[in-house]
Amino acid sequence: MKILHTVDETRAACRLGKRDGALLGFVPTMGALHEGHLSLVRAARSQAGFVVASIFVNPLQFGPQEDFNRYPRTLERDSRLLESEGVDLLFAPATEEMYPATAGPQSSVASRRPEKQEEIDAPLDYRQPTFVEVPGLSEKLEGRIRPGHFRGVTTVVSKLFHILEPDIAFFGQKDAQQAVIIQRMVDDLNLPTRIVVCPTVREADGLALSSRNVYLNPQQRQAATVLYRALMRVRALAKAGERSAADLSAAGREIITAEPMARLDYFEVIHPQTLDPIGEILDGALVVTAAYFGKTRLIDNLVLHVN
Ligand code: PAF
Repeated sequence: MKILHTVDETRAACRLGKRDGALLGFVPTMGALHEGHLSLVRAARSQAGFVVASIFVNPLQFGPQEDFNRYPRTLERDSRLLESEGVDLLFAPATEEMYPATAGPQSSVASRRPEKQEEIDAPLDYRQPTFVEVPGLSEKLEGRIRPGHFRGVTTVVSKLFHILEPDIAFFGQKDAQQAVIIQRMVDDLNLPTRIVVCPTVREADGLALSSRNVYLNPQQRQAATVLYRALMRVRALAKAGERSAADLSAAGREIITAEPMARLDYFEVIHPQTLDPIGEILDGALVVTAAYFGKTRLIDNLVLHVN
């Protein structure tokens, strides 16, 4: 596996990788890899002839109070894992490589992260890159609690797509809202990349794999399974014929709020494309939830199938 850190070398290597007509499959990550990421790599391996992964902890998608500085960075271990999964190329750029236009007199990483809401909304200056934004969808759910987050995600993903020119890109269902927003970005900008969304990978007790699970202490880790139990209860109720989204959400919320270590942020049944709350459930409706366990905020979701 080749490991590259610059845009120019990576672009050239990707073009070379596609030379004989091989499809380029891309798995973007922020590192701290787990089985969920590896399942994306395996999907890429099975659908593409040339597989590229990226590791970049993107400062633009973290809010001022979030965990950018303490986000786990495990490049050596991650590289070994990617290599053992047959990845052809790993792109692992430094912040300066991805956001050179933002380098100015105060060009430390922190200076390029919005510190306050005013900065997120501030007019462009040398500290801010060009943004790609999907308005509407980006302000809902996670976007309500994390202003600027999805603008950071769509900006970095579109930059990565321009550098690598992937035929197929792989994202996890775990970040359901992210996947919907990226699909919308690709549609709206006519990008020639097919988006594949792969199923959430879970621990044996149902907890969705997340790089942030390492922040949980043993009690919080145990308590965090409540998210999955709540989702499963909703699935069972829907299967038994319950069609009211309000009643299904109420049943999920009741389970999570009964867990003393959980602080519920939201639990909603929403439309899978508009992400708006719905009245009656429809096939493909999303059940989405977020809750804090101590300082760690976890998200999870479920797709409801109704016949
Ligand atoms: O899902 C993630 O890990 C990140 O949001 C992504 C897509 C790699 C962009 O930084």
